[in-house]
Amino acid sequence: MKAYIGLLPLAIQTFFSSNITTSTRMTIQHPPNPAWKAPFAAAISSQPVTFFQLATVSESLVPRCRTLTYAGFFGETPYAGASGIPASEQNPSGAESDVLLVASDARSSKFAQLQVSSSVEAVFFIAAQWTQFRVRGSAYPISFGARCGELERRGREHVEAHMARPDGWDWDKEIRKVWERQDEKMMKSKFPATTDETPVPDDFRLLVIVPDEILHLPPGGGPATTWTAEAKNGTAEWIKGEAAEH
Ligand SMILES: Cc1cc2nc3c(=O)[nH]c(=O)nc-3n(C[C@H](O)[C@H](O)[C@H](O)COP(=O)(O)O)c2cc1C
Repeated sequence: MKAYIGLLPLAIQTFFSSNITTSTRMTIQHPPNPAWKAPFAAAISSQPVTFFQLATVSESLVPRCRTLTYAGFFGETPYAGASGIPASEQNPSGAESDVLLVASDARSSKFAQLQVSSSVEAVFFIAAQWTQFRVRGSAYPISFGARCGELERRGREHVEAHMARPDGWDWDKEIRKVWERQDEKMMKSKFPATTDETPVPDDFRLLVIVPDEILHLPPGGGPATTWTAEAKNGTAEWIKGEAAEH
C-alpha cells in the first residue's frame, strides 16, 4: 500500500500518512548516519561534479525527470568561507541527517508536481565506479518563513525525524546559509531574484529528498545492494539486502 499512497491527492496522502504503521511513518526517528551514507558519500566525492536525475510525477500521472545538483546532506552544509551572516544569526554546527539537499526555485515545475505526489526517485551515475545509486523516497519544498503550506509542514516533520539537531538549530538560519552559498552563475542566473526581499528572496527553495530505500547497482550486472528503512521498537532501522534489479 505504501507504494500507492504517493499517487493520491495531497489531502488523502496526509490522512494515510498519519495512520500508516510502516517504515515511512514520519514521526519515527531515523538514524542520521545510516550504513548506506558512507559508501554513497564516498562514491559522490569520487566525481568531479554532483549532478543527478530526479523523477517526479506530473498532474496527468506522467513522469518528469531533470538534472539537479546534489548539495550534500541537509544540515551539514558549512558556512561560506567569508560568510556575511553575523555569528549570532548562524546555526550551531553539528547537525547531521541522511536527507539529500538541492537548491532550487519556486518557479520550477517540480514543486507543483510534488503537490500531486511527493514520491520521487533520484538516480546518481558514478562514472569512476560505473555504478548507480537509486534513491527512493519523498521530496518536499522548504522555504524561508515556511511559505509552502501543508506540504512543507509535512516535509519539515519528515526531515526532523531523519536529523540530529544541536540546541538552537533553526530552519530559517539553515535556508539563509544555503542561499548565501549560491553561485552567481547557477541558481542566481537561471532564476533571477524578482524581489529585493532579504535575507532570502521569496522564490528561493530548498528541495529535500527524504530516503526510504537505497539501491546500489554494481558494475556489469549482479544483484543490487539494497537498504530499506523499517520500523523496529519505535525507531527506524535500515535493513541491508539484495535485489535482482539492474
Ligand atoms: C548540470 C545542471 C545542473 C542543474 N542543477 C540544478 C539545481 O541544482 N537546482 C535546480 O533547480 N535546477 C537545476 N538545473 C536545472 C534543471 O535541470 C531544470 O531545468 C530546472 O530545475 C527546472 O526543472 P523543472 O521545471 O522540471 O522543475 C540544473 C541543470 C543542469 C544542466
